[in-house]
Order: sequence, then structure tokens, then C-alpha cells
Amino acid sequence: MFAITAARISFDDPLSGLEVGERPDPEPREGWTTVQVRAAALNHHDIWSLRGVALQEDRLPMILGGDAAGIDEDGNEVIVHSVITEPAVPGKSPRFSLLSEIHDGTLAEKVLVPRENLVPKPPELSFEEAACLPTAWLTAYSMLFGKADLRPGSTVLVQGAGGGVSVALITLAARVGHRVYVTGRDETKRAKALELGAYAALPPGERLPEKVDVVFDSVGQATWKHSIRALKPGGAIVTCGATSGDASPAELSRVFFLQLRVLGSTMGTKEELAALTEMCVRTGIRPAIDRVLPLKEAVEGFRAMEEGRLFGKIVLTP
Ligand SMILES: NC(=O)c1ccc[n+]([C@@H]2O[C@H](COP(=O)([O-])OP(=O)(O)OC[C@H]3O[C@@H](n4cnc5c(N)ncnc54)[C@H](OP(=O)(O)O)[C@@H]3O)[C@@H](O)[C@H]2O)c1
Repeated sequence: MFAITAARISFDDPLSGLEVGERPDPEPREGWTTVQVRAAALNHHDIWSLRGVALQEDRLPMILGGDAAGIDEDGNEVIVHSVITEPAVPGKSPRFSLLSEIHDGTLAEKVLVPRENLVPKPPELSFEEAACLPTAWLTAYSMLFGKADLRPGSTVLVQGAGGGVSVALITLAARVGHRVYVTGRDETKRAKALELGAYAALPPGERLPEKVDVVFDSVGQATWKHSIRALKPGGAIVTCGATSGDASPAELSRVFFLQLRVLGSTMGTKEELAALTEMCVRTGIRPAIDRVLPLKEAVEGFRAMEEGRLFGKIVLTP
């Protein structure tokens, strides 16, 4: 089958490790099912894999990708929840991996997944739209509705305007009635954030006209100081990523003096993915798609994501 594979690790030149071409079909496995991929979406996680952060060298070659929607072996239209529960090790807490970390991922014509990881795809969502949900949108949903203790009508800041997680956060937070501030490096992306329902969109680091209840930060180093300074006393940062590097310094004196909370967030449950899917059906919300490319042109999509030339999700179709 045709697939996009991480063949080598390079922190400084991640795309040099990409291989585009034929790979063996998945081997059948008890309790797992093969999904014919109709659409897959890129995530920054795929770049971290090529950098060796989310993928170990001894697991190469590895088919990349965590997000997919397709058809299962029984002909059902499905969305893949990409969090895999690994077999228990006695005396240790349960281990989790994402597709493409230990098991081959979704950037292929077929992907093998545990049957229990499938969520029905409603007919209202296209395969392309559904493929955007399992990582960026699920993470945003869990940050907003699981981690942040917010009532509708709160004031929030989303760091980053155009990324997968940021666009999902802006869309969902505006939809439930929060006053959403956004920062973005690019004027066009800031304008698009306003179209999605943001209340105001500012260049990175610019002082907000008011303090916010919660900051959603997936950027890390480049935005951390601003995030901490944007919060009301007792406010919270929900962090899920560090695209620009690890935060330093941690601004600890502000954290303890203003009694701020730093809340980590990773992915979401299968139940949350099903609820997010239902929310999309009920509200008419659809993931913003930057572009749809044939799988064989995946490198172009990777390049756009690495260079930050996107607004929303890049979708690949086999
Ligand atoms: N913990 C989890 O479960 C989880 C799940 C999903 C993602 N993540 C992590 O969250 C991060 C975002 O993921 P994604 O897929 O949304 O990535 P993406 O689509 O590549 O988006 C990158 C985002 O970073 C923003 N950004 C702002 N300043 C930046 C800078 N100096 N350098 C680079 N980017 C900057 C961009 O905003 P503008 O271009 O608009 O300025 C954009 O919103 C990644 O690090 C990813 O690994 C974690």
C-alpha cells in the first residue's frame, strides 16, 4: 500500500526523514481491524516524530499520522481514536501511545487499529472534516471542556491563530460564548480568527485590554511570559504543547503570588471524541480545512506546517 513513512530522524531537518512510497499492508491482529483510510490529517506531532521527540529511532521505519476517517472491515464509516492503551506491565500504571509512536499511523491507504478505538462517523461530516477531529480538535475540546473550569461568558486567550489546536479552540470557545482573545504572527490569520468568532486578535506579546480567566497555550517558549501576564489572579493556563520550545523562565513568583494554576492536557478520551463529533453535528461547527492534498503530495503539506503557512488543518486523501 502507499504510505508516508518516517525513515530517518533529524531534529534540525525533520523533513529529510520523510519517505513517500510503498509499504507492506498491515498484518491482521486479534482484536484489531483494518480501516481503509478515506482522509487523514497532519499534526505538528508528525514533525515531532521526524525530530525524534515523539518517535524513537529503534522503531523506524514508522508510518506517520494520528488522524483518520475511513471504512472499517464491516463497511462502517468510522473515525479513528488514536490513543492506544498498551498491554499492562505488572506493577506499573497503564501506558498509552498515539498511533505512529509504536504502531503504524494513518498516512496510508490502510491503518490497523484496535476495534475499540473506532467512533462512528456521522453522515453529516465529510471524511475530510471527520479526519480533523481525533488529535487537534479532541485536544482542544478536552482543554476547554475538561481541564478549564469555565462558565459560558468567561474571558479567554488562545495563543496562536492558525494552528490546528488554536483554530479548534477559537471555534469551540467562541461557540459556547466566551470572549476569545487570540494572538497570531500574521495579519491575515488574525483576520480569519475574527471570522471564526474571536473577540479580538492581536500580534504576539501585545498587552490585552483586560486580564483573562484562562489562557490556552500550545506554543510554549515564545508565548509563556505573555500567557502568565495575561491572567487574572487565580486564573489558569491550560498547556498542551511547546511548538517554539520549552518555557524558561517559569515566572514562578507570579504563579505563586497570584495563585495561578498550570494545567497540563494531552489528547482526550474516546468518549470525548464521540461527544465532540456529536457537538459538530448538533451545532453545524466544522473544522476549518486549510487545504486537501493527495497523499502522494504529503511533503508539500509537511513543508507548509513546518513553516507555519496554514490556517486550520491540512488533510491528505489516499
Ligand atoms: N498534548 C497533546 O495531546 C497535544 C495534542 C495536539 C497538539 N499538541 C502540541 O501542540 C502544538 C500545536 O499543535 P498543532 O498541531 O496545532 O500545530 P500547528 O498546526 O503547526 O500550529 C502551530 C501553532 O503555533 C503557533 N505559534 C505561535 N508562535 C509560534 C512560534 N514562535 N513558533 C511556532 N509556532 C508558533 C502558530 O500560530 P500562528 O502561526 O498563527 O502565529 C500555530 O497556532 C504542537 O507542539 C503539538 O505537538 C499536543
